[in-house]
Amino acid sequence: MEVDISLSPRVNSVKPSKTVAITDQATALALAGVPVIRLAAGEPDFDTPTVIAEAGINAIREGYTRYTPNAGTLEVRSAICQKLKEENGISHTPDEILVSNGAKQSILQAMIAVCSPGDEVIVPAPFWVSYPEMARLADATPVYLPTKISENFLLDPKVLESKITDKSRMLIICSPSNPTGSVYPKKLLEEIAEIVAKHPRLLVLSDEIYEHIIYAPATHTSFASLPGMWERTLTVNGFSKAFAMTGWRLGYLAGPKHFVAACGKIQSQFTSGASSIAQKAAVAALGLGYAGGETVSTMVKAFQERRDYLVKSFGELEGVKISEPQGAFYLFLDFSSYYGAEAEGFGMINGSDSLCRYFLDRALVAVVPGDAFGDDTCIRISYASSLPTLQAAVEGIKKALLSLKLK
Ligand SMILES: Cc1ncc(COP(=O)(O)O)c(C=O)c1O
Repeated sequence: MEVDISLSPRVNSVKPSKTVAITDQATALALAGVPVIRLAAGEPDFDTPTVIAEAGINAIREGYTRYTPNAGTLEVRSAICQKLKEENGISHTPDEILVSNGAKQSILQAMIAVCSPGDEVIVPAPFWVSYPEMARLADATPVYLPTKISENFLLDPKVLESKITDKSRMLIICSPSNPTGSVYPKKLLEEIAEIVAKHPRLLVLSDEIYEHIIYAPATHTSFASLPGMWERTLTVNGFSKAFAMTGWRLGYLAGPKHFVAACGKIQSQFTSGASSIAQKAAVAALGLGYAGGETVSTMVKAFQERRDYLVKSFGELEGVKISEPQGAFYLFLDFSSYYGAEAEGFGMINGSDSLCRYFLDRALVAVVPGDAFGDDTCIRISYASSLPTLQAAVEGIKKALLSLKLK
């Protein structure tokens, strides 16, 4: 008898993450001895700062290795409340915080908790690859809001207004943004808030995971701090990016108790509380001071230096359009003027996917096609790598572009 290998319609509706796929492909090539420059992953190249790592090690030594409460320890939730008050101007009590195994889990749980089948999740494009797929996992429909490179990929409030329907349940704001590095100015967020306020069903999920990786004069505004928005905003944040803690898997959701408790109910039947060790490390991370103190600002300075180098280098390239990122560690470049070009022994470059395959093949540089983020004109370069690595990547890309024959 043959086994029925069919899968659920839910899983069939979801696309696997292209960033993960390309990162895995580049890692496999590197393991096989091919000197690939890996600029695909959304992961800082720094080690977790020592004080944070030591807190984790001490947690193990001291036997702090058991289940914690489902929502996270009171210690870490209290520290998060203090951070939200001091840095973000948002007041929360510990029962309005849910700590999870990474912000990714926080976002999926939030969508599952508030969306009914057929509801719409409004996603400004370009978007982080997971938002639309998470909406589908929650039986909701992603609705895209296109933005333009000439407008720094910031959403136009009029376009937002035109997309809101009775089914709109959640608007996603990701600032600083993955993949564009755009930062929403406070004034624009206020205009968005005015529109959102007219729609009682519409909640906002504010993904603030890159808040500390921001370059002056840009500043971060938390959506929940705007007048009237606290009641309808689910703020998501985590430790992966600013504190270089991707492998520790720790993120959190803050919001009105009713919604946070619903997410907690899902988590209680799903993963239970996050790692006890990571929670101790997170307390140490929050203990570094305002915005992570000097430890984080040293890493941000390095990211900024790399951003400046890449913006200058690609700015010198003919036919490449750039919106200078104000935060995060990604550059989202428009290479569409090269589409239609022919590469000897490779074939036609007909979009971001083939251009990225070409860069991997000819320049040994792994970057992610923009179509994974909802914009085929662009490619995403993660600059969470050392300057010499980035210099080698730019050289390789420039050389590969030179041998393209424009039609
Ligand atoms: C915009 C955005 N949100 C959330 C996450 C999830 O981070 P984590 O699950 O590591 O906390 C990422 C990671 O790439 C991200 O880029």
